[in-house]
Amino acid sequence: MNALTAAASPDWAIDAEGLRCLLGGRTVVDGLDLRIASGQFVGVFGANGAGKTTLLRALLGLVPVQAQRLRLLGAEGVSRRTQVGYVAQRDPVGADSFLRVRSFVAAAWQGERWGLGWSQAAQRNLAVDRALRALEIGDLAERGMDTLSGGQRQRVRIAQALVNPVRMLLLDEPLSNLDPQAQQRILLTARRLCSEQGITVLMTAHDINPLLPHMDRVLYLAEGRGRLGTVDEVVNGPALSALYGVPMAVARDAGYVFIHPAHGFMAEGAAHCCDPDHAASHREGA
Ligand SMILES: Nc1ncnc2c1ncn2[C@@H]1O[C@H](COP(=O)(O)OP(=O)(O)OP(=O)(O)O)[C@@H](O)[C@H]1O
Ligand SMILES: [Mg+2]
Repeated sequence: MNALTAAASPDWAIDAEGLRCLLGGRTVVDGLDLRIASGQFVGVFGANGAGKTTLLRALLGLVPVQAQRLRLLGAEGVSRRTQVGYVAQRDPVGADSFLRVRSFVAAAWQGERWGLGWSQAAQRNLAVDRALRALEIGDLAERGMDTLSGGQRQRVRIAQALVNPVRMLLLDEPLSNLDPQAQQRILLTARRLCSEQGITVLMTAHDINPLLPHMDRVLYLAEGRGRLGTVDEVVNGPALSALYGVPMAVARDAGYVFIHPAHGFMAEGAAHCCDPDHAASHREGA
């Protein structure tokens, strides 16, 4: 492949056209066109029920999906889903697990797939150490999961998703209930994984502001549709009005973005993105 061809055909982590996710016989997301280059950090936004979790689970093959074209990590369909790490929105282990952090991270290791002839235990220990280092939580390795703060536990869950050599990371609301400093630590880690390891990160969130300095692209879901692009392309009145089907306004103040229905309109599900309390807390934490 010559340089011109290579430049014209980026390495797409996700290349989808007309993506449709179905749940309980209902179409949750429809007609979604996604082209996300490898190593990008994409923020995924939308109201409660917009389909953020459904989309992530569809990429993992956990939700039925139809598409005119769907390629994940260079292969047809979602056959490469084993190269995708996932941190679910709900923590199935919870705060009351008595597992040590090291054991919790190791539990997700699938060494037999990546076997190199070393002893399985030695390989697994190396993988766990590498994942703990990536999240800067080596000092937590011997702690019980039940002794961790919410922010620490969230970092451990991301380490668990990284214990296998993944090329993509799907993080479903990893910032919820965290203070601004803990949020920034996770965002900086995600950014570093993209920049230094070429991992593609999709992170769902409700407040766009903490992600603004870190993400490459924004994906907004609303009314069963979606729009992907840079912040400037997507987070503006005309683009969001077209997506929500009602007039939307975007205000910017001191580097923060506020999205709300234009005066006189109250779109169902639109008010989520106008979160002044959240923004104020970031300002205080900055
Ligand atoms: N197992 C299921 N069967 C049927 N419908 C479902 C199921 N799980 C979710 N849904 C519906 O699919 C829609 C999208 O849900 P989803 O969880 O993807 O939204 P979300 O954008 O992640 O919301 P939130 O911000 O609350 O996490 C919602 O209307 C939800 O009620
Ligand atoms: Mg969700």
